Amino acid sequence: MDFLPIFLNIQNRPCLVVGGGPVALRKAELLLSAGAAVKVVAPEIRAEFADLKPAPECLQEEFQPHHLDGTAIVIVATSSQKINTNISKLAMERDIPVNVVDNPALCSFIVPAVVDRDPIIVAVGSSGAAPVLARLTRAKIEAILPQTLGRLGELAKNYRQAVKDRFTSITVRRRFWELIFEGEVADKVYRGDFEAGEQQLQELLVDDAEEISSAGEVALVGGGPGDPELMTFKAVRLLQRADVVIYDRLLSPEIVNLARRDAERIYAGKASSKHSMPQEDINALLVKLAQEGKRVVRLKGGDPFVFGRGGEEISELMNHGISFQVVPGITSALGCSSYCGIPLTHRDYAQSVVFATGHLRNDTVDLNWEMLTQPNQTAVIYMGLLGLAIISEKMIAHGLSAEMPVAVVRNATMPNQKIVIGTLANIFDKSTAAGMTSPCLIIVGEVVNLHEQLKWYREADTTATA
Ligand SMILES: C[S@@+](CC[C@H](N)C(=O)[O-])C[C@H]1O[C@@H](n2cnc3c(N)ncnc32)[C@H](O)[C@@H]1O
Repeated sequence: MDFLPIFLNIQNRPCLVVGGGPVALRKAELLLSAGAAVKVVAPEIRAEFADLKPAPECLQEEFQPHHLDGTAIVIVATSSQKINTNISKLAMERDIPVNVVDNPALCSFIVPAVVDRDPIIVAVGSSGAAPVLARLTRAKIEAILPQTLGRLGELAKNYRQAVKDRFTSITVRRRFWELIFEGEVADKVYRGDFEAGEQQLQELLVDDAEEISSAGEVALVGGGPGDPELMTFKAVRLLQRADVVIYDRLLSPEIVNLARRDAERIYAGKASSKHSMPQEDINALLVKLAQEGKRVVRLKGGDPFVFGRGGEEISELMNHGISFQVVPGITSALGCSSYCGIPLTHRDYAQSVVFATGHLRNDTVDLNWEMLTQPNQTAVIYMGLLGLAIISEKMIAHGLSAEMPVAVVRNATMPNQKIVIGTLANIFDKSTAAGMTSPCLIIVGEVVNLHEQLKWYREADTTATA
């Protein structure tokens, strides 16, 4: 971040606008809407400035350094580069925050694009790099936020103190507000029935306060294969209200960062050769945090119930009577399939698909090879990179052609996705030569040949087909 987004209180503070044209007019209007005492300086000032409410003080003269005296901030919107540069320099020397329109190099602050649902304000900035993109982003946010959001904010403002007096625990207070903002009170306000919403809030505050439980709970959440946009709405919603997030190694920072800023984040990462936190410790931690009254999200790569040990974790929660829910995620086999253009089933090549773990244990891979090598089937092998040579050998030994196509996919669905295509006979050598490292998924079957025709996602580096 090049600029820190903050909201500045300029109520009744003197603020200076240098310039008298249409851009300066918009800036003066913005400052006035935040309650500033605006002074406009320019040799020529458009008549519309006089129509602003409240009318700013207009000084029809050339800018002079003394105009900066006592000003809280200054916005410069003149067409003269020389004047802009000079004012920026003078303001910076005097530690007065300065914005020169369309000239980030001369700014010490930037005016964001604003979505105004007062008291809820969304500010969108691009660090001066792409104001048009910021404006288009603002338009998107504008479209999704209810027009009446501000009324809900107003309601919260009016009852803030009462809620604080009623609930001493911060956690319970936060849950009360979540109940208000995500439940019927919000629905009523959004559809314009402010009074009914307020009445329900009052009832909840008085009558049902005890129902705002301080009990902890755990959500086992599938974070999908990597691309954050493949998360479910539910996963994102739960992440954003969690007190603690315990996440695995395969989760990208973009996904973990969807959690509330002040949520505690605990890394429980697992690599195939070393477990940084033993499973028993993770189970015990989930129980402990929930018993402390925390809302815990146990965030897992892909789907929690596909080679994710989700079953073990919830059985431990059940044993301790802890409330939980499970949110499915897109398992990496499906992510790989879509993002590599390799349909796992296909009318002509594969009528079934089987998922297996190729985890190397005691230098061998113990799988049902007969089942895995059925004709017209796609086999998807998780955690199989280390055992790839053995897997290929066993599949050939159990009847698959040495020429059977194989794909090894790393970091599927992410910008650094990499795919190596080969055959059972040569895939180990090819993926070793390509420097493939975990996490990789292996896809074995005729469908792999479709990659060349159906691939659509930009890959970091794709080796040639066999
Ligand atoms: C412990 S398993 C977890 C599987 C996860 N629960 C799922 O549904 O995808 C980890 C293995 O999943 C596979 N995997 C997970 N994410 C992947 C990705 N983005 N690209 C390729 N393989 C991935 C790899 O085989 C990795 O070794």
